[in-house]
Amino acid sequence: MVAPFDPTDFRRALGHLPTGVTVITTTDPFGRPVGMACNSFMSVSLKPPLVMVCVGNTSSTLVDLRRSGGFCANILGSGQGQLCRQFSVKEIDRFAGVRWTDSAAGPELCDAIAWMSCSIDVEHVAGDHVVIIAEVTGLRVNPDEPEPLVFHCGTFGSFREIVEPLAAGAASRPGVGGYSRASSAGPGTAGQAAS
Ligand SMILES: Cc1cc2nc3c(=O)[nH]c(=O)nc-3n(C[C@H](O)[C@H](O)[C@H](O)COP(=O)(O)O)c2cc1C
Repeated sequence: MVAPFDPTDFRRALGHLPTGVTVITTTDPFGRPVGMACNSFMSVSLKPPLVMVCVGNTSSTLVDLRRSGGFCANILGSGQGQLCRQFSVKEIDRFAGVRWTDSAAGPELCDAIAWMSCSIDVEHVAGDHVVIIAEVTGLRVNPDEPEPLVFHCGTFGSFREIVEPLAAGAASRPGVGGYSRASSAGPGTAGQAAS
């Protein structure tokens, strides 16, 4: 049974889908760092390595992304919730108090889990957002492997494992974004790690 809904209902319903969070960064025409919080970042293709992100069509960062032609995707750790909020506030210096290092694609935020250099391939206008598909041209994973930041119903949390680790064979099966499925578990069982 489906019911009519308004944008608030739509937003609230989608908020129930937990996501990871990134800050995508680049530079403005004066070489100053810019960035915005994005939870719409996800993997698209392995060969070639493609990712996508949806950016609001009124976003000021979108102008700099289009001009620079690329960005750095910083995958945030569980200790970076406050930093994430900072990167969603307008009219402030989002980099104030933030430790980062320079890279060709855009600033790399210290203590992130991973950093991906992305070169914009194509964009599609989709309603009030622009879907940007980009090729990953380089990446680095934090050797400390911090826990990921998780966004759910407007709040930040962290990941907690609740099922036993995947069997060695299943875990090594390749897939987009590390996708793998425990072969011993049937659909809808607690052993189904991803679908
Ligand atoms: C957790 C979180 C995730 C967000 N994800 C997105 C996103 O995927 N796309 C988007 O356009 N805005 C997203 N936003 C909102 C932008 O970060 C926010 O609108 C920002 O002010 C845009 O800044 P700009 O206009 O300077 O580009 C998110 C905000 C938060 C807090």
